[in-house]
Amino acid sequence: MKVLVIGGGAREHALCRSLSLDPDVTALHCAPGNAGIAEVAKLHAVDQLDGAAVAALATELGAGLVVVGPEAPLVAGVADAVRAAGIPVFGPSREAALLEGSKAFAKDVMAGAGVPTARSYVCTTPEEIDEALDAFGAPYVVKDDGLAAGKGVVVTEDVEQARAHALACDRVVIEEYLDGPEVSLFAITDGTTVLPLQPAQDFKRALDGDEGPNTGGMGAYSPLPWADPKLVEEVLETVLQPTVDELRRRGTPFSGLLYAGLAITGRGVRVIEFNARFGDPETQVVLARLKTPLAGVLLNSANGTLEDQAPLSWSDDAAVTVVIASHNYPDTPRTGDPIEGLDEVAEKDAPHAYVLHAGTKRGEDGAVLSAGGRVLSVTATGSDLAQARERAYAAVGRIRLDGSQHRTDIARKAAEA
Ligand code: AMP
Ligand code: GLY
Repeated sequence: MKVLVIGGGAREHALCRSLSLDPDVTALHCAPGNAGIAEVAKLHAVDQLDGAAVAALATELGAGLVVVGPEAPLVAGVADAVRAAGIPVFGPSREAALLEGSKAFAKDVMAGAGVPTARSYVCTTPEEIDEALDAFGAPYVVKDDGLAAGKGVVVTEDVEQARAHALACDRVVIEEYLDGPEVSLFAITDGTTVLPLQPAQDFKRALDGDEGPNTGGMGAYSPLPWADPKLVEEVLETVLQPTVDELRRRGTPFSGLLYAGLAITGRGVRVIEFNARFGDPETQVVLARLKTPLAGVLLNSANGTLEDQAPLSWSDDAAVTVVIASHNYPDTPRTGDPIEGLDEVAEKDAPHAYVLHAGTKRGEDGAVLSAGGRVLSVTATGSDLAQARERAYAAVGRIRLDGSQHRTDIARKAAEA
């Protein structure tokens, strides 16, 4: 089977890496990709938001499966365009992707499905904003209604900061603060059958000790030794299946990857957010542990045949990924800096540790250059989290990128527990 992957981040590199190891995949293509993906897939300079162009490329390539990675093309209807061209596509329709594209829509679906989440108000005027902030009190949680790459959310004790962020949004969701550790749980679905993956934990804040601004994610690990072994089953029953059923009932069935961002509070599991695609960087650690060849699973989602999928098989290994971000991320990141040390990791740390590329490109002289906020996702496996961490950080230590930043505490608490 020929597979075309849409996107160009570390998540897509992780997807391409797994697909390249799948014996059923005869050719791998990616648009637009990045310097790392170019080593396992043929790149195409096609605008990932242009559904007609993506469908044309898939047709020309004779692709048997298109996998749409990021949220922006999904919300732009790229999966619909590919599906209309008669090609199986992994990823939800534009209408179903609204589960991620609009926080207000997601809240409405959760209310309809009886899914536990933070109480919230959707506000459009300064009066409504003040009323909602007063009603919940500190800490304040203020979310831009639209897509914001994980950066539209402000959680603060400071009411002025909360109000300022709310006033800067057209439509804003203000909600109850949820206390407790966060878990990312992904499920592959075809709109009816729901197949949960293994849980992971993401580190959203820029700095060690969960300080600093929210980012797209600075690192992740899996499994979660501290979590209740029944967590996946419970979330399948109380969150994932009811949400998939509700979307089908509304006439907008969701197929693809349903991402539940959860808070494990003292009063039980609550949904913080849904996403309509694989999480980044969690995908890097989840796929590092998946033993079942990936293409067939994604194809079963695309074709509505997930019921026939054999149970997934998982490695007992632990996996850790550490994101190396450019200078000044998540504000305006500096790009165009050379990255050194990638060969050393390939020589000394493979196969247990490897570098997945996020924002990178090849310069004219062939050098790998930074090209985005998150630049690399250095991933490693080990017999436990401590070993996976050690390997990941050893590899991180070999990478040289001027002004770059990374957290030093990814998976530390979990590894020590
Ligand atoms: P979101 O984009 O909705 O995932 O929010 C980004 C991050 O903000 C989450 O991963 C949490 O760390 C934090 N956050 C969002 N909603 C809440 C909430 N209701 N209570 C506490 N923290 C939250
Ligand atoms: N790591 C968070 C996300 O993918 O949204």
